[in-house]
Amino acid sequence: MEPMGELRRTHDCYSITEESLETEVTLMGWVHRRRDHGGLIFVDLRDRAGITQVVFAPEVNKEAHEKAHSLRSEYVIAVRGKVRRRPEGMENPKIKTGMVEVACEELRILNTSKTPPFPLDEEKEVSENKRLQYRYIDLRRPVMLENLKLRHNVCQAMRRYLSDRGFFEIETPMLTRSTPEGARDYLVPSRVNPGKFYALPQSPQLYKQILMIAGMEKYFQIVRCFRDEDLRADRQPEFTQLDMEMSFVKEEDVIELIEGLISFIFSNTLGVELKPPFKRLTYKDAMERFGTDRPDLRFGMELVDITDIAAGCGLKVFNTVASTGGVVKVINAKGMADLSRKDLDVLTEFAQSLGAKGLAWVKIKEDASWQSPIAKFFKEEEQKAIMERVSAAPGDILFFGADQKSTVLRVLGELRLELATRRGLIPEKEFNFVWITEFPLLEFDEDEGRFKALHHPFTAPMKEDIDLLDSDPSAVRSRAYDLVLNGIEIGGGSIRIHQESVQKKVFSALNIPEEEAEEKFGFLLEALTYGAPPHGGIAFGLDRLVMLMAGRNTIRDVIAFPKTQKAQCLMAKAPAEVSMAQLAELYLRPDWKKAE
Ligand code: AMO
Ligand code: AMP
Repeated sequence: MEPMGELRRTHDCYSITEESLETEVTLMGWVHRRRDHGGLIFVDLRDRAGITQVVFAPEVNKEAHEKAHSLRSEYVIAVRGKVRRRPEGMENPKIKTGMVEVACEELRILNTSKTPPFPLDEEKEVSENKRLQYRYIDLRRPVMLENLKLRHNVCQAMRRYLSDRGFFEIETPMLTRSTPEGARDYLVPSRVNPGKFYALPQSPQLYKQILMIAGMEKYFQIVRCFRDEDLRADRQPEFTQLDMEMSFVKEEDVIELIEGLISFIFSNTLGVELKPPFKRLTYKDAMERFGTDRPDLRFGMELVDITDIAAGCGLKVFNTVASTGGVVKVINAKGMADLSRKDLDVLTEFAQSLGAKGLAWVKIKEDASWQSPIAKFFKEEEQKAIMERVSAAPGDILFFGADQKSTVLRVLGELRLELATRRGLIPEKEFNFVWITEFPLLEFDEDEGRFKALHHPFTAPMKEDIDLLDSDPSAVRSRAYDLVLNGIEIGGGSIRIHQESVQKKVFSALNIPEEEAEEKFGFLLEALTYGAPPHGGIAFGLDRLVMLMAGRNTIRDVIAFPKTQKAQCLMAKAPAEVSMAQLAELYLRPDWKKAE
C-alpha cells in the first residue's frame, strides 16, 4: 500500500472526454476490470461518476506497467497520465469516455481488496442475501449508485419546491408514544423511567397536527417511520415519508400543490413532463371497476357487473349468489382465448388461493358462440346480453367471479393483474397517476367485531355524512385521498378533524372509550380546544416513489441499508442479543422466549 503522496485527484472518471485530449489528469477509483494483453494492460477505472479506460504500456512508463500486473478487481488506485485518443477500432461509443483513454505514467496502489464475493463488472444474478451482507460492494454497482443518486435528487427537489412555497422543515421526536397508523409499534424501554416505554413513530401524524395548532401553517419533513408489520416488496419496517401538513386548506389545495410537486420532481430528476391534473376515481368506482383501491390504470380489463343477468341463468352457483346478496362480475381478457386447458387450471388454482370457490370461463368462438363448460346454463339472449355488456368479440375469454362482493373484487382484481402481467400488457415506461377519493371513514373489522378507521381516527368525515355516524357508520365517507402510481399507493392523507366535538363523535363510532381516547391522544384532544385551525395534509412513501421512478420491483433497491423479509440487517447483523447487564439496567427480564 502506498500513500497518495503529492498526487491530487483532478478529474472524475466520467468527465474525461475528447475535450481533455493531451491534458495530464490524476484519477482515483477502483479497478473495475483488468485485461492483461502481455505487452499492454488495460484497466477500467471506476469511481462514483463513471468509468475511464487506463492503459499501462512499458513505453509510457515501465515501472507503472510492471506494477499494473499485480492489480486485481476492486483494488483502489491513483493514476496519473495523459489523455489520448483510443486507437482506431478500440473505441466504445456506448460510454461517454469511450473515445479516449489515459496512458498511465504513475500508478499508486492505495489499497488492495480481497476477491469480491460477487463480480461487479457483469450483470449476473446475485442472491439478494449476499448483496445485503456485502452491501458496500453491492452499492458500488453502477445501477445501485444510480438509484441512490436518484433518491438524493428527489429529496433535493422536494426540499426546493416546498421551501420555495413557504414550508418549514421541522423535526419531530423519534422517541415518542404510540401513534395511530394501525400497525404494531416498535418499543424502546426507558432506563430512567422503569417499566415505561417509548414507541418509535409509525408516522408524525399527531405532531404535525399539533404543529398546525401551534401556528406553523406549512410543515414538511423527510422522516423515518417505523412499523412492525409483515414485510413485502414494497414494505420495510423502517421506511421514509415525505410528510406534510397545511393550515386553512381544503382537499383541492392539497391535491393541486401535490400535483405541482410531483410534476416538479419528475421534470427535474427524470426529465419527464407529467400533465396534471391527474385522474381521479372515487373509492367506490375504483373497487367496482378494478377490484382494489389502488388500481393500475396502465391497462383496461375492467370488472363488469352482471349480477342482474346471472340472477336468471340456469347455473345454480350464480343465481344462488345473485339471490343471496352476492355479486357476479366478469372480466373480458381480450384476445386471450388461446389460453390452454393447463393455463386455465393454473388460473383457477390462483383464484382459489385467493378465496374463490371456482373460476368459470367462456371462450368466444369465431361465430360468437360460447365454448365453455357453463355455456349450456345460459340462454342465447343471456349470452348476448353478457357479451354486449363486456364488449366481447371472437378470440376473447371471459372470467366470472360469483361470491360475496369483497371476495369477487379481490379475486378478479388480482386476476386482472395476473393476466396483464402474463401477457405483457403493462407498458413499463408509463407513469400513470390516479387520486382515489371519498374513502369510507370506517371499515368493519370482522375479527374484532367493531369499526376501525380506514386511514386514522383524525381523518375528517364529509360534512354531509356526519349525521350518518350514528345511524349508518359504514356509509360515512371521509375527506381522505390517496395517490396511486402504477397500482402502488405512493401517498395518502386527508383533511383532519379540527373540532373536539367531531373528534369525540368519531372516537365513539370507533368504540374507543373516552378514557382510552384521553389516555392515548389526550394531548391532541386538549390542543384542539385551544384554537385549532382547519388543516390537512398528506404523506408520501419516498421509497416507493423512488422505486417506481427507478423502474425497480422492490424498495430494497432504493434504500442504502434495507432489511430482509425477517426484518434483519444482514450486514450489521441486527437485531442482536444484548448483555444481561443491559437488560437488567432496563428492568427487562432476560428469560422471555416466544412460545414455540
Ligand atoms: P400512510 O399510513 O398511508 O399515511 O403512509 C403514507 C405512505 O407511506 C408509505 N408506506 C410505506 N412504505 C414502505 N414501507 C411501509 N411499511 C410503508 N407504510 C406506508 C405508503 C403510504 O402511502 N400519517 C398518515 C399520512 C397523513 O394522513 O398525512 C400516514 O402515515 O406509500
Ligand atoms: P360447477 O357447477 O361447480 O362444476 O362449476 C362450474 C364452473 O363454474 C367451474 O368452472 C367452476 O370453476 C366455476 N365456479 C364455481 N363456483 C364459482 C364461483 N363462485 N365463481 C366463479 N366461478 C365458479
